[in-house]
Amino acid sequence: MKHFLSINDLPSLSMALQEIQSLKSNPNRFRSIGSGHTLIMLFFNASLRSRLSTEKAARLLGMDVITLNISEAWKLEFDLGSVMNLDTSEHVIEAARVLSQYGSILAIRAFPNLENKARDKSEWVLRNFVKYATIPVVNLESATGHPLQALSDAVTIEENKNRIKPKVVLSWAPHPKALPHAVSNSFIRCMQLLEVDLTITHPEGYELDPEITKNVPIEYNQKLALEDADFVYVKNWSSYSSYGKVLSKDPAWMMTLDKLGKGKLMHCLPVRRNVVVEDAVLDSDSSLVIQQAKNRIFAAQLILKSLIENC
Ligand code: CP
Repeated sequence: MKHFLSINDLPSLSMALQEIQSLKSNPNRFRSIGSGHTLIMLFFNASLRSRLSTEKAARLLGMDVITLNISEAWKLEFDLGSVMNLDTSEHVIEAARVLSQYGSILAIRAFPNLENKARDKSEWVLRNFVKYATIPVVNLESATGHPLQALSDAVTIEENKNRIKPKVVLSWAPHPKALPHAVSNSFIRCMQLLEVDLTITHPEGYELDPEITKNVPIEYNQKLALEDADFVYVKNWSSYSSYGKVLSKDPAWMMTLDKLGKGKLMHCLPVRRNVVVEDAVLDSDSSLVIQQAKNRIFAAQLILKSLIENC
């Protein structure tokens, strides 16, 4: 694995899940493997879990960590051949090459702008860093994917499943803001690699990229979709066809204890209580959200360790 940009970059998801469990049972086993290596983390957007779990993972491997919030650095230009006489001060060509002098792995968070679909779909920011950096790049949530989250979600499902092929439902929820598709995309991609029975439920108009959902059944009736679900992954996303638009804020789609039934709640966090998921669900034993967040450490540890071993 040269970079970790998508869940499909893993040589084997099942092997990765086994290795993550092994790291979780003994996180200090590889304390010296990252000695002499530095992880550079670049944030174009806010983060709590990705930032701290990845830093913790790096330190468990003995790495040094440098973090830069890009809003505190020079405004970057991405267009080739542009005459930089406006507000951008540094081109990604130099920035990526300079960062590659300071670290051995570059981890980047760069959300979509949700205005230019083609640009977002091309992974404009992430791909430019991959193009010009000379070190491996890790996706900490990009325009279209959040593979570290999906990896920890898969670990959490493996830890909690009670049958060989559990029923997993990805259920859209209302939200006041237009949110990206990245978490849902990577979750779907990841579930397609696991032995699960996956259904997606959302209001009409919220269909995700058909290149990602492929043959996954879509059930517009949330109640029907949730019947006998073992895992219910609740997530808001904005419309893909009416790109970046909020078409509905229907509170009837919020996850409640009644709807969840015997299922387990999953959410990547942060979650807006009583908008996306009601208090009673988040405060119940059916919620796996804290376990998902904890598993981010070991998912990141596996990815960083693999990239160091390939350096
Ligand atoms: N789930 C997740 O990526 O959380 P942060 O946005 O806080 O990093």
